[in-house]
Amino acid sequence: MAVFDVENLKVGYGKLEILHGVTFKVEKNELFVIVGPNGSGKSTLLKGLFGLATIMGGKILFNGEDVTKLPPHERSKKGLAYHPQLNNTFENLSVRENILLAGYFLDRDELERRLEKVLEFLPEIRGFMDRKVRTLSGGERQMVAFAMNMIKEPNTVMFDEPTAALSPKMADLIFDRIVKLKTEYGLTVVLVEQNAKKALELGDRAMLLVTGTVKFLGPADELLTHEDLASMYLGLRD
Ligand SMILES: Nc1ncnc2c1ncn2[C@@H]1O[C@H](COP(=O)(O)OP(=O)(O)OP(=O)(O)O)[C@@H](O)[C@H]1O
Ligand SMILES: [Mg+2]
Repeated sequence: MAVFDVENLKVGYGKLEILHGVTFKVEKNELFVIVGPNGSGKSTLLKGLFGLATIMGGKILFNGEDVTKLPPHERSKKGLAYHPQLNNTFENLSVRENILLAGYFLDRDELERRLEKVLEFLPEIRGFMDRKVRTLSGGERQMVAFAMNMIKEPNTVMFDEPTAALSPKMADLIFDRIVKLKTEYGLTVVLVEQNAKKALELGDRAMLLVTGTVKFLGPADELLTHEDLASMYLGLRD
């Protein structure tokens, strides 16, 4: 059974339709990459999958269950996590407070057990646990947002441009951990990326979105080396 089985999904804001009928599946333990030009609807798709944008048509099955009409917290309970493109942390709280807040629903012992596991997965965070998030670099903030999702022990994580504006070294660290979610923890990952080359190298399958429609759906390496699409929409090759 697919993790996501999305059929003819139309998503928008209010009455404005942005995604005009998108159909795809994400398989279990897959790294599924979504790329496309600015404004093509990548973030809108993730918001639709998490229940944060208006669904105007179509259907979303998540692990076989129809979640099309469920609010975000119900999807979260089913093991779906969402790492937003912007504003993914509480700036005036410390890193520790951010992570503990994300695990508010856990009892104290379980929270401590999970916090230890999260810090094993993202040990870099130990060095700035008690700093306010607003004092952190962009990469450190991404790690905090990552940790806030990990404490929920999800089965599927959707990332929206987690490496945007990061140094190559920091981006590599984030990519490394995203890959580990799949290879070491057996999770399913949906990754929206502006670094199309790197994401397509790491991904299993990929989808290219252009103005709210699917232009390509297939193996990630096929899109990476595609004669026309890679240069036309992703700035790859000549
Ligand atoms: N809250 C909103 N209300 C109305 N329109 C919106 C809203 N958010 C986004 N849009 C519009 O939806 C379209 C798609 O935006 P979206 O953010 O999904 O694109 P994207 O592919 O994620 O772009 P980027 O690569 O820049 O992140 C754009 O035309 C944008 O202006
Ligand atoms: Mg976006």
